Amino acid sequence: MVSNDATITILGGRGMLGFDLASVCELLGIKTTVLDLPDFDITSFDQLQRAVADAKIIVNCAAYTNVDKAEREPDLAYQVNAEAVGRLGVLAREADVWVLHISTDFVFDGKSDRPYVETDPPNPINTYGASKLAGEKLLVESRCHHCIMRLEWTYGSHGNNFVSKLIKRARAAKSVKVVDDQIGSPTATAEAAKAICSLVSKKPEGVFHFASDGYVSRFDMAKFVFEKLSMSVDLASCKTSDFASPATRPLNSRFDCSKIKSLLDEPVKPWQQPLEQFLEQL
Ligand SMILES: NC(=O)c1ccc[n+]([C@@H]2O[C@H](COP(=O)([O-])OP(=O)(O)OC[C@H]3O[C@@H](n4cnc5c(N)ncnc54)[C@H](OP(=O)(O)O)[C@@H]3O)[C@@H](O)[C@H]2O)c1
Repeated sequence: MVSNDATITILGGRGMLGFDLASVCELLGIKTTVLDLPDFDITSFDQLQRAVADAKIIVNCAAYTNVDKAEREPDLAYQVNAEAVGRLGVLAREADVWVLHISTDFVFDGKSDRPYVETDPPNPINTYGASKLAGEKLLVESRCHHCIMRLEWTYGSHGNNFVSKLIKRARAAKSVKVVDDQIGSPTATAEAAKAICSLVSKKPEGVFHFASDGYVSRFDMAKFVFEKLSMSVDLASCKTSDFASPATRPLNSRFDCSKIKSLLDEPVKPWQQPLEQFLEQL
């Protein structure tokens, strides 16, 4: 457990993950300082310097997360996801602050035929993924005490995600097409938040993959969502190549999460359980 006198500074604390992290911390009696746009901009050196000076532990959830838009705004994506993370690392090293930085499965090209382990060579296939990988590298180069937690396929109640988009699409049009060749693990941000709290209490160094247990295609996930919500939707499968989108998506997002498991306070749940719970609360 995190000691009660430790305060966690959450950068991007009003985003989908940051919001759930702040909520889980409150439940566990952990104090937080929540910083986010518009009053906190991670790309502002002065604001970042003040944030680090006031912190002991930082969890960086702040990110440019619009995958398709990043193809049109690479400079902004790199400023937020890479350059600011590098500066955070340098400031954290100088102030002896430990940083937990959130990254993504999009650092991989998705071409592997097995779940990715932390030591697999990254090879991003879109600007968002490349900017996140650049952020990871700059953080390592800063030599601050840190760990990088890569997440995938997250959903939560405070942000746009695959589940919310799926429901919106099904309400607007009775027929929905979903790709059946992208495979991963739907992961609730509430579960990721609990895992973050476990890591914060142990302050490990290095890269960790975290996702719910088990794997599913986007299509089978959509089927599960509509069945649980008793929504009558004409659901059809298609291939990623059928969808023209500005950013290419990796087909294999599967993570091998063996490394993180021994550090967690509770076992990782199969993806169906938190998703069902999430859908019941909608
Ligand atoms: N969503 C996924 O499927 C997924 C998968 C794997 C990894 N991740 C990673 O998970 C982390 C959290 O993302 P999320 O899903 O919670 O996305 P999110 O809801 O977009 O949260 C990101 C937060 O960062 C804020 N932000 C953006 N630019 C900023 C800036 N210049 N200064 C300060 N804050 C800024 C955003 O504010 P605005 O909303 O005002 O822009 C938002 O509150 C990110 O590192 C992301 O790369 C996400």
